[in-house]
Amino acid sequence: MSRPNQSIHGQWSSRWAFILAATGSAVGLGNIWKFPYITGEYGGGAFVLVYLLCLAVIGLPVMMAEVLIGRRGRQNPVNGLRTLAAEEGKHKGWRYLGWGGVVAGFLILSYYSVIAGEALAYVFRSFAGVFEGVTPDGAHHIYTSLTSDAERLLAWHTIFIIMTMIIVSRGVQGGLEKAVKFLMPALLGLLLLLVGYASNTGVYFDQGLDFLFKADFSKLTSGAVLTAMGHAFFTLSLGMGAIMVYGSYLPQKASILKVSLSISIADTAVALLAGMAIFPLVFANGLSPAAGPGLIFETLPIAFGHMPGGTFFGGLFFLLLVFAAWSSAISLIEPAVAWLVENKNVSRRRAAVIAGFSVWLFGLLTVFSFNIGSQWTLFGKTMFDLLDYLTANIMLPLGGLLITIFAGWVMSQNSTREELAVKPAFIYTAWRFIIRYITPAAISIIFFKVVGIL
Ligand code: PHE
Repeated sequence: MSRPNQSIHGQWSSRWAFILAATGSAVGLGNIWKFPYITGEYGGGAFVLVYLLCLAVIGLPVMMAEVLIGRRGRQNPVNGLRTLAAEEGKHKGWRYLGWGGVVAGFLILSYYSVIAGEALAYVFRSFAGVFEGVTPDGAHHIYTSLTSDAERLLAWHTIFIIMTMIIVSRGVQGGLEKAVKFLMPALLGLLLLLVGYASNTGVYFDQGLDFLFKADFSKLTSGAVLTAMGHAFFTLSLGMGAIMVYGSYLPQKASILKVSLSISIADTAVALLAGMAIFPLVFANGLSPAAGPGLIFETLPIAFGHMPGGTFFGGLFFLLLVFAAWSSAISLIEPAVAWLVENKNVSRRRAAVIAGFSVWLFGLLTVFSFNIGSQWTLFGKTMFDLLDYLTANIMLPLGGLLITIFAGWVMSQNSTREELAVKPAFIYTAWRFIIRYITPAAISIIFFKVVGIL
């Protein structure tokens, strides 16, 4: 059977465009909002170390597998997995793995968009000077008055979903690529600026670095280990087909190993830089690193409110966060949009509207979980907490596990060797060994141990 050289959605204009887009997908709220607050909640260094280990042992090999499957399938994850399974003479049921990814992306975007909406609100608050001279109580009040107001939160969530639909409806080269080419470099520049500012806080900078990099294993619970692994998937956009669908637009001659390495390194660097920018500010202002999902919203304004030029830097910071979230949101919805275009024969624009509207509707659960619905709990978690736990700690690791099985056991050695095309040969041998044994074992041990099955 001759293989299609391109996806029907077109392809990235170069390897670089793919790296930028996939980095845009990886770098997002996960790095700047979530990484600091879960690191703060789980006590710092030891958690960070486990997270970094998970990135290396699980994240990188799974990313290579996803890019490989995506590019070889040249379709959305559902159809791609079905085609590849059929080619190998295996069961068509593998397409449900693609479906799981579409659903996970959908669920993640439904709450992701609400947090991104909060960041958007903060851009305006910052530039308007609302944070000038603000006290910790004042910052807390500003945050809770936003989250407790269902109508306002809903409005920002709506704006963010519309922003996402606009870019997605423009397609691979027109929308996605143009957006990230501009977003990624801007983001890195702004982040470096913030770390530069934090490095002026003297002892607090050291304290921040100690918190991030000095491992105290007595703080490491099994829940922390599962969260660290879940976050490794979340931050690299793995386990749900986002990187797979981007891989389906990757030109044939690009090296999968090189692009995956670049993306993982860039993503890790941004998270660590965000931590290095945020924790010194947290300590310098006597704030708590364990403040939870509101960490950056409740603590950074205090810092910005007291630094020279803080109105401007604060505004820039939240703008950066919105950009980062935007380029991730695009990839969260792309598998669903690509599926609608391929299978339901609708235009890209229409697909973006249908998918965007459904996500928006589902997002109401998260919007309300911060206010009128804060009492609606299931398993002791609010709707937002539940969605976050279900997706990051359960769906992505399980999706990742199945992806390793698909790449290591379902696909033949010939197919994966041809698609990876790495030299020298031992790199392929090492990858195949890791993806068949090491990574699935690591995911299973962590996952099933915490869930209580092992
Ligand atoms: N990686 C993104 C972030 O860190 C979130 C994301 C998860 C995007 C899964 C796509 C798929 O913010």
